[in-house]
Formats: sequence, C-alpha cells, structure tokens
Amino acid sequence: MFYGVSYYPEHKNEQELAHDLDLLKKSGINTVRMGEFAWCRMEPQEDVFDFAWLEGVVNKLGKAGVSSVLCTPTACPPVWMVKKHPDILYVDNRGVTRPFGGRRHYCYNNETYREYSRRIAEKIGERFGKNPYVIGFQIDNEPAQEYTGRCHCPVCTKKFQVWMKSKYHTIKEFNRRSGSIFWSQEYHDFDEVFPPVNALENGAEQKVPRFNEGPSIRLDFERFSSETQIEYQNIQAEKLRKYTDRVVTTNTTGLATNSINYYESSKELDCFAFDYYPSLRTGKIGTFPYAFARGMKEGMRFWVLEFTSGGGHKLGGEGRPQSAPGAIKQAAVHSMVCGADMLLHFQFRTFPGGAEQLNYAIVDMDGVPRRRYYEMQETAEILKKLNFLEKSEIRNEVALCFDYDCHWALKIKPVNSPDFEYIRYINELYDILAGMGVGADVVSFQADFKKYKTVILPAAIIMSKETQEKLKKFVAEGGVLVSTFLTSVKNPDNMGYTVSLPAGLNDLFGVTVQEAEPVFKEFSAKVRLNVKAGTDTILECNDSLWSELLNGTGQKVGEYLDSYKKGEMVVSRNEYRIGTAFYIGTGLSRTVMEKILGDACDRAGVKRNLILPTFGLEIIRRQLEGNDLYCVFNFNEEEAVIEFPGDMKNLESGRLYRGKAAIAGRGMLFLESRT
Ligand code: GAL
Repeated sequence: MFYGVSYYPEHKNEQELAHDLDLLKKSGINTVRMGEFAWCRMEPQEDVFDFAWLEGVVNKLGKAGVSSVLCTPTACPPVWMVKKHPDILYVDNRGVTRPFGGRRHYCYNNETYREYSRRIAEKIGERFGKNPYVIGFQIDNEPAQEYTGRCHCPVCTKKFQVWMKSKYHTIKEFNRRSGSIFWSQEYHDFDEVFPPVNALENGAEQKVPRFNEGPSIRLDFERFSSETQIEYQNIQAEKLRKYTDRVVTTNTTGLATNSINYYESSKELDCFAFDYYPSLRTGKIGTFPYAFARGMKEGMRFWVLEFTSGGGHKLGGEGRPQSAPGAIKQAAVHSMVCGADMLLHFQFRTFPGGAEQLNYAIVDMDGVPRRRYYEMQETAEILKKLNFLEKSEIRNEVALCFDYDCHWALKIKPVNSPDFEYIRYINELYDILAGMGVGADVVSFQADFKKYKTVILPAAIIMSKETQEKLKKFVAEGGVLVSTFLTSVKNPDNMGYTVSLPAGLNDLFGVTVQEAEPVFKEFSAKVRLNVKAGTDTILECNDSLWSELLNGTGQKVGEYLDSYKKGEMVVSRNEYRIGTAFYIGTGLSRTVMEKILGDACDRAGVKRNLILPTFGLEIIRRQLEGNDLYCVFNFNEEEAVIEFPGDMKNLESGRLYRGKAAIAGRGMLFLESRT
C-alpha cells in the first residue's frame, strides 16, 4: 500500500529542500507525488528541458525508501508558450478566454497544445520511465476541474461540427433525430451547428440564463467534449507507455466534476484515481465515492492521489476545519479498506505564495513538524501492518447503475430541481442499502449484470433498446430488478420515446405510466405500502421528488391514500419468467425504501451483513479466505457498541467477542466472523 503526500520541490531553495527531504524520509511514508504544475522548470524555454532538479529529489527519496508518482505538467502551460501561441488558451461557454496567470488555461483540442503535451509527456517518459524509484505517472491534474471541460474556442467549434457530421452523416438525419423542427431550428449544413452556450459544469456561469437550447445537441456536446478530453489524455498515455511499464493514470475529481465519462477515460488507464476531500473534523466519511471509484474500472483497486491533510486556509475563501486528532489515521485506513491502494495527502508543506498560499498541509510554513505530521507517521506504521487487505476483497451482490448519459440529460433538463439530483439520489439509495447491511457496487449499463443478484436502476431516464433487452434478459433468467421513477423516458438521442412509458419495458414491469409530476411539498400525498402481500406489514409515508401513477397487471405493492391519486398504484412488483421486477414510482421515506429494497434483496437471496451500522459508524464487509471480515469504523468522538449474532474474532489481537464489542471514539475494529 502506498501512502504519502504531494510535494513541490520546485518551490524550495537548497536549504529548505534538504530540511523537507529529511522530514519526508523520517515520516515513514513510502510515496510522494510531484511535478504536476512545474512545466516552467521542466521546459524553461521551448525545447530546452531540465529534469535534473526533479531527478535529484526522486533519487534521494528513492534511496530512502520513498517512491515517486510523477506528473505531466500540462495543467499549467508556461508563459512563453502562451505568448507564442495565444490560440491554445481555453475559451469558456461565455466566450471568455482564460488568460495566463492561473491554471487549466488550455484547450485540449488545440493541435499545437496537443503537440507540446505529447512532447513533454515523452520527455518525462524518456527520463523517468525506467527509474527504479518511480512507481507511476499522473497525466495532467484534475482534467476538466474548475470548469475547463467544455472549451468553446474556434478549434473546438470546428471539431464539434466534424464530429456531428461523422455521427449523423447527413444534416437531414440530424434534424430528424434531434427534432430540430422545434422553434424553427432546422439546419442546412453542419457548419451551422454551434456548441451550446449554456453550461452544465459545476460553478460555470450561464452565458444567456433564460435561453433554452435543444436537449439533443446539448447531450451531443457533452459527449463530444468528454470524448475529446479522453483523446487528449490518451495522447499523453500513449507517449508515456512507449517508455514505461509503470502505472499510468490521472487524478479525476470523482463525483465532483463528471464532465468526463470516467468509465470511458479509465479504459486506457492502468487504474482509476481520484481526489477526495472529506471533512476530518466531524461526521462519517462517506463510502459512496469509494464505491464509485471501484466501479469505474470493474472493481479494481484505485488510487486516491489527493486527500485532505488538515485545515486552516483554503483556495476558496471559506477555509477548512482542522482534522480531529486520530482522524487522519482512521481516514487513511478506511480508504484502503474501501478499495484504495494509494492515498496521498494534499500536501506536505504550506505554500507561502501563489493562489494557494497559507493553505492547509501536513507541515506548516515554518517546517516544524507538529500533530498532523506525527499522526501521518503513525498512520504509515499502521498501514504497514494491514496485511489482511492484500488477501481480502469486497464482493457485492447488488449493483447500482450510474450512467453518464442519464447524468448529463438530467442536468440539461432537470426534474424538480434542486430537490432531485441524479447522483445524490443514487448516493441516498447506496446509503439506505448500507444501513440495511447490504454493500453495493456502482456499475454502468454495460456491466455484466450476471455477476449480481439484484440490480437497482435509479432514474434511468435515457435508455437504449439494447439496455432494455439486457434488463429483460437479466430478470427472465432469475435476476431481481428495482427501477425507480423516470425509467426509459428518452432514447439515446435525448428524444422522448413516443410509446407508453417505461418505453420498451411495460411487459417487464407489468405497468404503464399514466401520468407524472414533480412532487412539490404542498401537493405531497400519502403512500401506503404492503410489500409482502398477504402479511400485515403495512407502512405509510409521504411521496417526494417525482410521482408516477402506474397501471397494469403488476402487483400493486404501493398505492396512494389521499388526494385525487387515492387508490392509484405507485409501486409495483411483477414476476417476469423466473425473476422479479419492481417499479417504484415516487420518492419514499427511508423506512419504506428499506422495506422494498429488503424484499428485493431477500427474494434474490442477497446476504446481509451480520453487523449493522449505528449512528456515525461505517461497516465494510470483505471476504478473507472464505470468511467474512467486518471492518468497523467509529467516526464518533465517543465509544460505540456494536452487536452481532454469534462470535467474532479481532483480527489483530485474536480476542474473541461474544455478541457485542465496544469500539473507541475515532476507532476501528477488524472482526472475523466465526459463524
Ligand atoms: C485540487 C487540486 C490541487 C489543489 C487542491 C486544493 O482540486 O488538484 O492542486 O488545488 O484542490 O487545495
């Protein structure tokens, strides 16, 4: 397991460097990440390369047992390049050019910039590809971050037009499939098709706020921008690979940006990697981002290339709270248990200058090691002893589908915004399952559903005919499927299906949608659930988010109790060949969802964890040589007690627990099930 920090040797004079290297060596960590913003030192003038300063640090650290992840510096094109080729600059959706003076000011489609990027990646590969102390390479830094994933420069515009032409072949076909007759938008040629000016990216400002562009062209622009950024990433990957057999990856932003389809971008990378900044002061650290990370490359272990290091000042004005004592240690182990095999704190020593001056780090500006440094040291020691991680794995029986087309389509044309948000809703379902003792994987529509007993399909608003057929096959062969409202409403062109909804799946669910609406608080109505028909399990709650009235031969397991919807079916269950398909037509309370999901999991024979999380606890089940291993994290400050049937053995101390165990505040326990 790799554990360490980001470090910026290019900021230091000789004395400071010697001091830092000494501290780094003594800290017990085994990895540093360097170079992602250092282009002006790697290539101070065009075609003049200097890597000696970096190589010296890599070798010195390497000899002391600290390996390096080296980055290509393409997030920061240097001033000489910008001066010579101003056309490489990024142009946002408002037409504003990002000038030199910050970062991420480049266009990923610009051929000149691609050539410079190719060259610097190649030089780095040549110099470090076989260096025994280099374990991997990071391409760029957080591609698409700070809303730089939707360039609108003339190069991108032209390329988008060519992309559209190669997709649709004739403009007539594009007009037909995108419904451009609407508002008289029929085109005569692809050179009339321009990138939409409204942006989906986090934090981006709309150029023309109340200007509604067509959803089909907008989805195509999302796909085009994602694809061409992946193309840009792969140009660098290809060059590095010519010289190295070490891991080549990039630090994505996990759930945060999503301007890039990470299922696709990960295909050409050796592992998925992301940056994660949870609070280390209070509250649980969510495991959904880790499940998402595992899902991007079919369950493979991933890297966390940046992680919280502490608190104080921040790039944004709000600052960040310091970590609670013990939280760094706990968070690092938690991350590894959830599937990471690298975690690097951002960053080692506080910057005195630049946009991130005074920001949190492991060591303060004065270079004096304090609490966070010593805790990192302790963490490094603990991680060396977690041998069971290598031998064990997470094996889940439930899949939660997350799809980029749906994600983008629901941002382009949101429903009940801001109450309903696609990723947040998936996260909520994930947390409900976790609370029930069921671990879930995040998967794409392309995943192998046969690996799972239950597949959950939240708000799959865009669905291709192939996916419809795949879902039917899964259920026909005995799978249990749970779909929610907004299933199969539009085709992959982002055009509504003109058949009864859920399109192509009426026989699978035994329902058609009669009418639909957002659930505003003043119109919320009561729903009654009778999950196990024939028993007296009756539950009620109010609906939320979105509401669909269902009709058909499916069993009515949920119905409305009041308003004009009284008596209408809202949750259905249908036996389809030898499997079962549930359709949940509205947002329901946690308790009610637990019932439905519990029923679905029980029917499929999904195994539940023997230990359930109480407040502030996270429990991850791993398989260790045929046994179940429960990794329990208490994120509260106070001690907690967990209960379980039978006996559990403490993997570290060998102590046997009968039926319950206490876990200290900020503590962790690794228990092997004996039953
Ligand atoms: C990340 C970025 C780092 C640093 C950090 C915040 O998004 O990759 O370079 O800016 O945020 O301190």
